[in-house]
Amino acid sequence: MSYPFQITSREAYDEAYKKSVQDPEAYWAEVASSFVWQKKWDKVLDWNFMDPKISWFEGAKLNISENCLDRHLPTHGDKPALIWEPNDPEDHHRILTYRDLHFKVEQFSNVLKNNGVKKGDRVCIYMGMVPELAIAVLACARIGAIHSVVFGGFSAQSIADRLIDAQAEFVISSDGAYRGNKEIPLKSVIDDALVQCRFVKKVIVLTRTRIPVSMIKGRDVWWEDEIKKVETQGNPPCPAEAMDAEDPLFILYTSGSTGKPKGVVHTCAGYMVWTTYTFVNVFQYQPDDIHFCTADIGWITGHSYILYGPLSAGATTLIFEGVPTWPDAGRFWDIVDKYRVNILYTAPTAIRSLMGFGLGPLQGKHLTSLKVLGTVGEPINEEAWHWYYEHVGKKKCPVVDTWWQTETGGVLISNLAGVTPAKPSYATLPLPGIQPLLVDENGKEIEGNNVSGNLCIKFPWPGILRTTYGDHERCRQNYFATYPNLYFTGDGCLRDENGFYRITGRVDDVLNVSGHRIGTAEVENAINMHTGVVESAVVGYTHDVKGQGIYAFVIYSGNHGDENLSRQDITQTVSRIIGPLAKPDKIQFVKGLPKTRSGKIMRRILRKIAEGDFANLGDTSTLLDPNVVEEIKEGKI
Ligand code: PRX
Repeated sequence: MSYPFQITSREAYDEAYKKSVQDPEAYWAEVASSFVWQKKWDKVLDWNFMDPKISWFEGAKLNISENCLDRHLPTHGDKPALIWEPNDPEDHHRILTYRDLHFKVEQFSNVLKNNGVKKGDRVCIYMGMVPELAIAVLACARIGAIHSVVFGGFSAQSIADRLIDAQAEFVISSDGAYRGNKEIPLKSVIDDALVQCRFVKKVIVLTRTRIPVSMIKGRDVWWEDEIKKVETQGNPPCPAEAMDAEDPLFILYTSGSTGKPKGVVHTCAGYMVWTTYTFVNVFQYQPDDIHFCTADIGWITGHSYILYGPLSAGATTLIFEGVPTWPDAGRFWDIVDKYRVNILYTAPTAIRSLMGFGLGPLQGKHLTSLKVLGTVGEPINEEAWHWYYEHVGKKKCPVVDTWWQTETGGVLISNLAGVTPAKPSYATLPLPGIQPLLVDENGKEIEGNNVSGNLCIKFPWPGILRTTYGDHERCRQNYFATYPNLYFTGDGCLRDENGFYRITGRVDDVLNVSGHRIGTAEVENAINMHTGVVESAVVGYTHDVKGQGIYAFVIYSGNHGDENLSRQDITQTVSRIIGPLAKPDKIQFVKGLPKTRSGKIMRRILRKIAEGDFANLGDTSTLLDPNVVEEIKEGKI
């Protein structure tokens, strides 16, 4: 497969960028022409950021699964589409060619239909990293059902919240999942969630770990039994549903600065074009390359760069079930050598955690197949960047630092591997189609170089979110209302003397813990649910491995005389309400919180205290009771 839109030189990048800004419709029409459309579009772009209303390729009909599967069959049906490395390196790996994957997706699409799933229905997927997860996602896309994948680390309550918000009547899960030396009882978590969700009609359960599960008559069915039914029907084909360009493809929940996670909605055509385009250009994918993205499919990175981008590009994508440190901290390197991986895409937190094991786990590993390294999810510190570049890439693989968000569908700012220059800890330059600008608090553009401000984007790209599920006003408020006519990213950013961008982190109340997005309000709500808690305030602080850790200041009246036990109780509560990923790293009991006279908590002060930066607390005179600050400083942990 060749990619007519692949940019292979700096001059071509400059040219493409210029064209994408001067005549975006012509630029994206040309890119889109290399995809399979059941019907071509009437209009390339229609937009305003006020409503907001964004529509790409309006009038077109297509199916992303046809682009990810069917279109590859005549030319490379026997090429591996998906390589699966199991959690336990002693277990058998699996390789599915494009033909195999197409067959299995059609088969499972028929399972979905047999179970009453129709176009437009919402399907929640809660599974470990097994090939069937990819199959389930693609089967939903094939029949036009809207998938909503929930990461395996979320609690029953979080799943219930998402099921209710999406009004999802169907769930796909498995009995359990393996992750390192842990076995996660997925079905049992689903069962707990469903106590609150009586509207769920069907749960399709894959066998993976063979732990006991309770299968409820009339509601729960086994994946394998349902496949057998399709086999006895003679495995009929399942033609890809004709989807409108702007039909929703999926919902993915993500945290914001307010309490409840939002269901970010991506639509069929624009998302497909954007993920494929960015995959091919950022990583400079070559047709025989093996691409290994270590993210979980439960996050946007997995959606876009394990599944849709690579498969639409006809690439070979690797799915890894386990964790980087099990059975030992050399696991990623073993996988790279075993499959001769060419592109490795991971998170700074994984790099920092592996750095902590020293160079021992790299010894005896060849890593000679590697051509491109990528990072995503959080700012990468220079030390981690250099370690990655020197010890993993052996100074011969470009590192792409890719900045983007759940809402952006794919990468917006990144160097293109080996094509545009890299700079440690800088995402560098915007991709064609992306028009970033920095603004001050009043929304005034900050021009020139060597400046910093809040990062906004002033023109839509094909992969931008269209709405937040069931609440368009929330989408407007969150992303398009802070600065009129701009998409506000929530990130702070600086632009250096060469116009390179460096993302410095969130400027809102969103934390980034090990590359996972968590809202401070969400964690506070969970902590406040504990009976002993009167009030709490949560802030982030610098953490060597996780990037940010969660620091909770808690006013507590539980009083059972054992502070450690109280901390554990609170942690357990957060784990139950949100999931283990949101557990506070530090809990400090306080008598009061620094509040203004109008009752607003001054987080700025708490952030400084959590960092131990007592000298720069700023003006505390406007506080209702300045004395609480002294008390909190003394109790800092
Ligand atoms: O703060 C930015 C940070 O992660 C946020 C988006 O999180 P999420 O929607 O979960 O998506 C993560 C994977 C795309 C951003 O607002 N972020 C992401 N990539 C980078 C980054 N910060 C700095 N550098 C990056 N490369």
